Amino acid sequence: MKNIVVFASGSGSNFQSIIDAVESGNLSARITGLISNKPGTKALDRASSHNIPWVILSENDFGSYEEYSEILLAQLLEWDAQLLVLAGFLRKIPSNVIGAYQNRILNIHPSLLPKYGGKGFYGINVHRAVIKAGDVETGCTIHIVSENYDEGPILDQAKIPVLADDTPEKLAARVLQKEHILYPKVISDYLKTLD
Ligand code: GAR
Repeated sequence: MKNIVVFASGSGSNFQSIIDAVESGNLSARITGLISNKPGTKALDRASSHNIPWVILSENDFGSYEEYSEILLAQLLEWDAQLLVLAGFLRKIPSNVIGAYQNRILNIHPSLLPKYGGKGFYGINVHRAVIKAGDVETGCTIHIVSENYDEGPILDQAKIPVLADDTPEKLAARVLQKEHILYPKVISDYLKTLD
């Protein structure tokens, strides 16, 4: 069974869907830790209530970015991470971590990449842009993380229609439902391809 470490910055509803999949036996993996970049998030409560170790690591709390990157990597090694799963993590992953975990970092993004990816496109901003552009469909994408934001190889996508009365919030909620189904499944399939 492989060890996964989840990164989440906010509510952690995707993190919860991964916990649920592990606990129900649909995802054969151990969640050995959660990394968050800020205190007081719901993701941390979810970790605590499922006995998952967590740490808060933010570059702002270190003397230099290098120091932050080294401490982050050391934590991942301590948790014996074999796959890193970004679930609403809104910070860039340092390049030493990307280098150490080549093809072993997955991310979920709430749009049909390559549309609405890159800097500034996260969370509700993405859904606002979709509605503003008048798109008739949207969805979510799971991809392998590379050095460039939201640009790594795509593993899978799920689509939904954009409805005439959609608001960014309504769209976010419907895309999230798709995310919760897709992410555990893609993680499970992907783990089977790793040595
Ligand atoms: C999710 O919609 C996820 O796709 C998005 O943040 C939300 C986190 O929700 N991620 C990004 O925008 C990454 N660029 P959650 O905390 O409830 O899982």
